[in-house]
Amino acid sequence: MNRPPNRRILLIDDTPSIHEDFRKILTPTVEHSVELDEMEAALFGTTTKVQTQAFELDSAYGGQEGLQRLHTAMQQEQPYALAFVDMRMPQGWDGAQTIEELWKVAPDLQVVVCTAYSDYSWEDLLLRLQAHDRLLILKKPFDNIEVQQMANTLAAKWDMARRASLKTIHLEQLVEQRTQALTLAGQALQQEIDERKQLESQLVQSEKLASLGQLAAGVAHEINNPVGFISSNLGTLEGYVKQLQQMLDAYQQAEEALPSGECLDQLITLRKAMDLDFLKEDIPLLIRESKDGIGRVTQIVKDLKDFSRVDNNEKWQWANLQQGIDSTLNIVASELKYKADVIKHYQPLPEIECLASQINQVVMNLVINAAQAMGPERGTITISNGIEGDQVWLEVADNGCGIGADSLQKIFDPFFTTKPVGEGTGLGLSLSYGIVKKHHGDISVRSEPGKGTTFRVVLPIRQTDKPL
Ligand SMILES: Nc1ncnc2c1ncn2[C@@H]1O[C@H](COP(=O)(O)OP(=O)(O)O)[C@@H](O)[C@H]1O
Ligand SMILES: [Mg+2]
Repeated sequence: MNRPPNRRILLIDDTPSIHEDFRKILTPTVEHSVELDEMEAALFGTTTKVQTQAFELDSAYGGQEGLQRLHTAMQQEQPYALAFVDMRMPQGWDGAQTIEELWKVAPDLQVVVCTAYSDYSWEDLLLRLQAHDRLLILKKPFDNIEVQQMANTLAAKWDMARRASLKTIHLEQLVEQRTQALTLAGQALQQEIDERKQLESQLVQSEKLASLGQLAAGVAHEINNPVGFISSNLGTLEGYVKQLQQMLDAYQQAEEALPSGECLDQLITLRKAMDLDFLKEDIPLLIRESKDGIGRVTQIVKDLKDFSRVDNNEKWQWANLQQGIDSTLNIVASELKYKADVIKHYQPLPEIECLASQINQVVMNLVINAAQAMGPERGTITISNGIEGDQVWLEVADNGCGIGADSLQKIFDPFFTTKPVGEGTGLGLSLSYGIVKKHHGDISVRSEPGKGTTFRVVLPIRQTDKPL
């Protein structure tokens, strides 16, 4: 910004002698300058000699040539501060047109119109040029000091305007920079807020799980006992009933050998009244249904126990995730058989440090959910995995019914299920969530209703902080 002041002047006049005069006034020899300084001191009463810098004067003898010089000067980044333009130039452009053309190229050029007489009235000229703040009028014949002072003042004015505009540009750049910094800070803040919100909701989720875990552990413990003896009693009962039936069959055969009489009549009446044949058929059925029911309760209790991890004394170990997936797929093969084809996209994976059977359980939940999401048509379940930095990822994608936006927020909640009683407990995903979090991993879901769902599990390869 601290350039030397611009002392460059362009003179456009068709009379060569005028150029000579201007040169004498504006680019004087040393004596000349001293002489002028003395004159100036006499005129303005200044005693201290002001060292005025010399001007650099370029000459043009017509409007077009002047414009050409201006172009060249601008290209060389040596702009003129001001131009003296003769008003009356019979060949080519006149002064007014020349000035118009000059300002098209350099709007900040200060201009002095030099004239003895003009083809315009001054009003017309000022109206035409519309730039009263850049235009001075110098009438011939010139007074030397007048010319010199005009040059001095206008050059200083040009410099000041240039400096002000540079400052404005600088200020605008500063504002732009600050705005950018503010925008960035705003974005960072928003990101932090989002992250916090997410952490908060994860915390809420973990706390929900923890308290439900305790509840589930208590319930599981309480139910486990009676379920245990009901189940074992049912087994014993089934055996007894079988024996009783054999006994009854024997009695029934013995019946035939009985002589007719009151005793036989009584037996036959009683047998018919209680419909013994039906009872013989129905009792084993009832027992089987009860055993199924209690089997389901046992499964739920087991899920609850897994969920609360009361029985959990599994050790951390290095395990091959793909082997785990494959063996889990074998276990659930019968569930998948009629519902979906499984496609595998495996990439070579390192072993990961994990609680292997719990990870298998996550895979099982995801795969069974995927199978259950299929409609009447056979679907596809795609299992892929890969490695990303110091983590491995696993995706289970299906082309089933998808999950609506309402449900999507709740699927990891314990006991949230959209499945009929007996088919879903609503524990699978919350259990999986807990397991993945325990591994310091992440589980997420993308779903499009009607199109399908993809669950993604990310697990660190190595556990740095293993919970017990
Ligand atoms: N792959 C899937 N496609 C569609 N819905 C799913 C899928 N996985 C989970 N869900 C939804 O999330 C709910 C909760 O799943 P989950 O916790 O495993 O419990 P459950 O399977 O016993 O219902 C399911 O009832 C179902 O609505
Ligand atoms: Mg499930």
